[in-house]
Amino acid sequence: SDAASSGAVTHPQWSSRLAFILAATGSAVGLGNIWKFPYITGENGGGAFVLVYLLCILVVGLPILAAEILLGRRSGCSPIQGMAQLARRDGVSARWGWMAWIGFVAAFVLLSFYSVVGGWSLAYVGLAAEGAFSGADAATIGGIFGQLLEDPVLLLLWHSLFMLLVVLIAGSGVRAGMERSIRLLMPLLFVLLLVLVGYAAVRGNFAQALGFLFTPDFSKLTTEGVLTALGHAFFTLSTGICVMMAYGSYLPKNVNIARTVVTIGLLDTLVALLAGLAIFPLVFANGLEPGAGPGLIFVTLPLAFGQMTGGVVFGTLFFVLLLVAAVTSAISMIEPVVEWLEDKGIGRMLGALMSGAMIWLLGICTVLSFNIWAQFHPLDFLARFEGKTLFDLFDFLVSNLALPLGGLAIALYAGWAMKPQTLREGIGLGEGLTFRVFHFVLRFLSPAAVLVVFVYNLG
Ligand code: PFF
Ligand code: NA
Repeated sequence: SDAASSGAVTHPQWSSRLAFILAATGSAVGLGNIWKFPYITGENGGGAFVLVYLLCILVVGLPILAAEILLGRRSGCSPIQGMAQLARRDGVSARWGWMAWIGFVAAFVLLSFYSVVGGWSLAYVGLAAEGAFSGADAATIGGIFGQLLEDPVLLLLWHSLFMLLVVLIAGSGVRAGMERSIRLLMPLLFVLLLVLVGYAAVRGNFAQALGFLFTPDFSKLTTEGVLTALGHAFFTLSTGICVMMAYGSYLPKNVNIARTVVTIGLLDTLVALLAGLAIFPLVFANGLEPGAGPGLIFVTLPLAFGQMTGGVVFGTLFFVLLLVAAVTSAISMIEPVVEWLEDKGIGRMLGALMSGAMIWLLGICTVLSFNIWAQFHPLDFLARFEGKTLFDLFDFLVSNLALPLGGLAIALYAGWAMKPQTLREGIGLGEGLTFRVFHFVLRFLSPAAVLVVFVYNLG
């Protein structure tokens, strides 16, 4: 009845719970943790933002992630076909299928700019390896980043290489190679982050960083900051966008979703906090600006690599691992699209190539946002979008609008359209208090949180 086998297409499945955890963690842990979390934390004043973000992960992100994975597993095929079929099976309107389209479009736009930043990591592998940071001061390192952004051809080149990598890996099958590389390289990234935190604790201003990250000062938090925190909870967990739904469609029935989601959430949050702890001590010790924006990690970490013993090796390794984390996330973004085309009878490689080409093309807008179109602010006539480049707008559209809206739809579907028992058994919870809390959160708390934040931001 509810099994994947009831769909028209029979999919391959992850080989085990561990395999799924690895792939889902590979999707979750990425540029969002190491690049985006520190820079938006810096832009939004630190502690209070971090607190709201953590709350959003707990009461909005994780419950919705669990629901999303379950919807995928129940549908057993690509989100677009799967949601409509599932709605019919649950006896509700097939219009629910629309939520998958939000995710579909969001994934396209998201990957288009994610790939450009992935390209920066690629560029920095080379820079670190050739010792470009050795002994350099903050101004020199800032200059290196500035030069990269100024050069549209170079940015386009790195963006193209990154997309090519993603298309080739995604096209050759979700499981091929990915499990192995994540199993090996994730722990390594983790260890390297610990080394960096250690370095920052010794050489940086650790006390000031701790104060900045963990002492909430609510006077620094704007309503837009709250929206950013909410959006980032979705972004960092890869939820609200039907990507985890696509991954969930390969999930064997006996895997406990509740436990899996807790594991993913813990790992993802840990990596983000470690990144913050590695970066902010250096920011403060070097008199850098916490709110410097998207370049933050690219102008602080190289400083550390330039000064530490073995910095060339550590630096190169770090950017390789950042690249791997970015690639495993990017692959997951393209998966719903590839899976959709596959269900329509188009081979994986061809599907990946076709969608990759379109995403690559859209990515050019982001490439130009940092140079030729830096002064092009298409929504300047709306006060709230004043001064935002195309890249800023894409990020806002996806992270702050599409993901929370997609998440809202998922919460409402799981909370209201599904039978409580189907939900409870699917998630893998007993009949006790935990499920009742979870159900309440999905029905009321998470939707309310999204709506309240939206309404405040409209006003
Ligand atoms: N969670 C990824 C990160 O933190 O970098 C980004 C991401 C991947 C968002 C996949 C959405 C997604 F569907
Ligand atoms: Na993440």
